[in-house]
Amino acid sequence: MAPYNLLLLVLIASGAFLKADGQLSPKYYSSTCPKALSIVQKAVIAAIKKEARIGASLLRLHFHDCFVNGCDASVLLDDTGGFVGEKTAGPNNNSLRGFDVVDNIKAKLEKACPKVVSCADILALAARDSVVYLGGPTWKVGLGRRDSTTANRAAANTFIPAPTSSLSGLVKNFSVQGLSFRNMVALSGAHTIGLARCTTFRARIYSDSNIDSSFAKSLRRKCPVSGNDNNHARLDLQTSTHFDNLYYKNLLKKRGLLHSDQELFNGKSADFLVKKYAADTKLFFEDFAEAMVKMSTIKPLTGSKGQVRINCRKVN
Ligand code: HEM
Ligand SMILES: *[C@@H]1O[C@H](CO)[C@@H](O)[C@H](O)[C@H]1NC(C)=O
Ligand SMILES: *[C@@H]1O[C@H](CO)[C@@H](O)[C@H](O)[C@H]1NC(C)=O
Repeated sequence: MAPYNLLLLVLIASGAFLKADGQLSPKYYSSTCPKALSIVQKAVIAAIKKEARIGASLLRLHFHDCFVNGCDASVLLDDTGGFVGEKTAGPNNNSLRGFDVVDNIKAKLEKACPKVVSCADILALAARDSVVYLGGPTWKVGLGRRDSTTANRAAANTFIPAPTSSLSGLVKNFSVQGLSFRNMVALSGAHTIGLARCTTFRARIYSDSNIDSSFAKSLRRKCPVSGNDNNHARLDLQTSTHFDNLYYKNLLKKRGLLHSDQELFNGKSADFLVKKYAADTKLFFEDFAEAMVKMSTIKPLTGSKGQVRINCRKVN
């Protein structure tokens, strides 16, 4: 082998250890639980076939996990007598869903390879598999996260961005997680799937001026000035079970459902990216995948930290 090739080989090999995700590796379970990835994927597809919305719910679970002290499955811990988890935090209460799907996946994994696959890795894989099955991009999921032994409701209330956020608030909330402006705009494209409750967009449809009037009018029928808080509307009004770039196209027409969505196209610094993603699905998919890899490697517990929970809802 020519010295030049050898040098290249060494660089490539060492690169594998210098990646931003530190110790995580897509092959983490290849000897300890070779079927792990296919078990998760099969169960995710079955769950989406049963209820198309669940893919969106699984994607959101991973986001709400990672933004609160890292991707450590803290979001999955149930409240018990003395213990307060994150499930009843403002952004999560009566809102997060998909816990039963995660339980089902975990039960299958415990059968195949007991105490091996973490709940945090299940969330990362289920998010990716959902996006792919709904027509979005794919990416390699680094694995080897371990599960927290605690949760933090106050942190969930602090770190998960609110639908009333301004552009500068969103930028701040993402940057404290180590995510860039571009990551933030791309990740917001997750709202190309799923639903939101009336209570999260009421203020927008009655008070915002940067909203298409016929869009606002049709939403006001489902979401009155008071009551019906839990009525749902699609975050992407055309295709809420297909992962595409219509979210951005809607923003160009002032048809973002949440106030925070429309902040990305409101005459400020994110406009150029929204226009780019609206015009170029490939670019959106590339940026979304890259940002998901970054989000899913926020502060993982690795090595001997944390534990592999047997039941995702409670500490071993
Ligand atoms: C940019 C800041 C964000 C804000 C303010 C925000 C806010 C919200 C709100 C208020 C809902 C509706 C919840 C409900 O009514 O129960 C929602 C739904 C959703 N969010 Fe976000 N979100 C943001 C970013 C993200 C990110 C980064 C992702 C994933 C990568 C994501 C994925 C989703 C999905 C898929 C749904 C629909 C869930 C379902 O139908 O069950 N969101 N979001
Ligand atoms: C969560 O929602 C339930 C049911 O609506 C409500 O009774 C409870 O007070 C809420 N919890 C918190 C912490 O807000
Ligand atoms: C998130 O943004 C809001 C403004 O929308 C700000 O008040 C809050 O301090 C930010 N939180 C973090 C943790 O960055």
